[in-house]
Amino acid sequence: MSSESFQDFIGQPKSREGVEFRMVSAHGRQMERMLGLGVGPLAAGTVGLLILLKVIQRLRHKQNLQDKVVVITGASSGLGKECARVFHAAGARLILCGRDQKRLQEVVEELRNKTYGKIQTYSPCTVTFDLSNTSRVSSAAEEILKCHGHVDVLINNAGISYRGNILDTHVSVQRDVMETNYFGPVALTQAILPSMVDRRSGHIVVISSVQGKISIPYRSAYSASKHATQAYFDCLRAEVDRFGLQVSVISPGYIRTNLSINAVTGDGSKYGVMDKTTAKGRDPEDVARAVLKAVCHKQKDVVLAGLLPTAAVYLRTLWPALYFRLMASRVTKEQRLKEE
Ligand SMILES: NC(=O)c1ccc[n+]([C@@H]2O[C@H](COP(=O)([O-])OP(=O)(O)OC[C@H]3O[C@@H](n4cnc5c(N)ncnc54)[C@H](OP(=O)(O)O)[C@@H]3O)[C@@H](O)[C@H]2O)c1
Ligand SMILES: *[C@@H]1O[C@H](CO)[C@@H](O)[C@H](O)[C@H]1NC(C)=O
Ligand SMILES: *[C@@H]1O[C@H](CO)[C@@H](O)[C@H](O)[C@H]1NC(C)=O
Ligand SMILES: *[C@@H]1O[C@H](CO)[C@@H](O)[C@H](O)[C@H]1NC(C)=O
Repeated sequence: MSSESFQDFIGQPKSREGVEFRMVSAHGRQMERMLGLGVGPLAAGTVGLLILLKVIQRLRHKQNLQDKVVVITGASSGLGKECARVFHAAGARLILCGRDQKRLQEVVEELRNKTYGKIQTYSPCTVTFDLSNTSRVSSAAEEILKCHGHVDVLINNAGISYRGNILDTHVSVQRDVMETNYFGPVALTQAILPSMVDRRSGHIVVISSVQGKISIPYRSAYSASKHATQAYFDCLRAEVDRFGLQVSVISPGYIRTNLSINAVTGDGSKYGVMDKTTAKGRDPEDVARAVLKAVCHKQKDVVLAGLLPTAAVYLRTLWPALYFRLMASRVTKEQRLKEE
């Protein structure tokens, strides 16, 4: 891209070099005068002041969750259940969603009478629906909005994983994973969004995955659904900024949940195995705290992964050829292990 077309792309006028130069030389003279006063104390003072300003800014912009209406999908287990605990303890009025009313009710029972010092807590509501049924999602959104009249924070957490070789995977499975992980959150978000725009207030969170940034072998359906998720919510963030709405995409690495047990395989059957990687993953409570932090501090894009997956995200952009080679050799290695 030429520098001119890049300017067009980011939609900013070109700077006038002459003006900039005059400013720089004026700055230079000012700096010379300041140097006479001693740079040390001045620099220390400036740094101190900047840190103080940053802290004040953070506190001022920090969102308080007391009494906020927070919707959590997939609240019956894993990360969603931990998010329910953490947001409940922060004083949020929860609306918990999932397909299984009984399991949602267990979470409600656990939280119902819990108190935490000065925080006022609320007994959660539940709305039961299947995210992969788009026509059901719009009526579910109406039920959600009826609970408290509005939604402050929508956490699109529910999701399903997949394990399989593309050669052995039915296209219907590719589509089903997309329905739950992509079209479900899209339909729910679009059903809630107009009410947020009307109020000029709201925060939409989506739990994506590191696999929404890089694709690893035997995860085609899952990784594709998370890549689509990242793209959609990045687009949404830009479009709703003018209404003062927030969008956070959270991309965790492995979390210790039942996700791999609940994963589907190429023929649509349940995988049913607790993968070693998942078993050794992060504590879901820590991830839930990171989600709370992302909401409080209005973080736009958060990657919660170790050094290696984070490096892989950069490698995919900076040196794709090497990334592709590494992924291909991973397949070779896994095939060899399988044959043994
Ligand atoms: N665990 C990890 O290693 C990991 C890593 C990165 C990202 N994530 C993401 O984290 C999110 C939470 O997953 P988890 O690890 O907590 O897994 P989990 O324990 O299997 O929980 C998945 C949740 O999603 C709900 N759900 C699944 N399909 C649904 C559907 N069709 N309609 C409505 N709800 C549905 C389930 O509720 P019901 O079964 O009651 O409906 C359950 O509460 C997912 O988006 C996942 O992709 C997980
Ligand atoms: C995983 O599933 C089992 C059995 O359904 C359940 O007892 C356990 O709480 C689940 N684990 C998590 C982290 O949700
Ligand atoms: C929880 O609180 C309600 C009143 O809000 C009360 O009726 C109920 O007995 C309490 N349950 C437990 C287990 O303490
Ligand atoms: C989808 O939801 C609609 C409306 O609630 C319902 O009539 C229909 O049976 C559902 N479809 C499936 C496949 O569950």
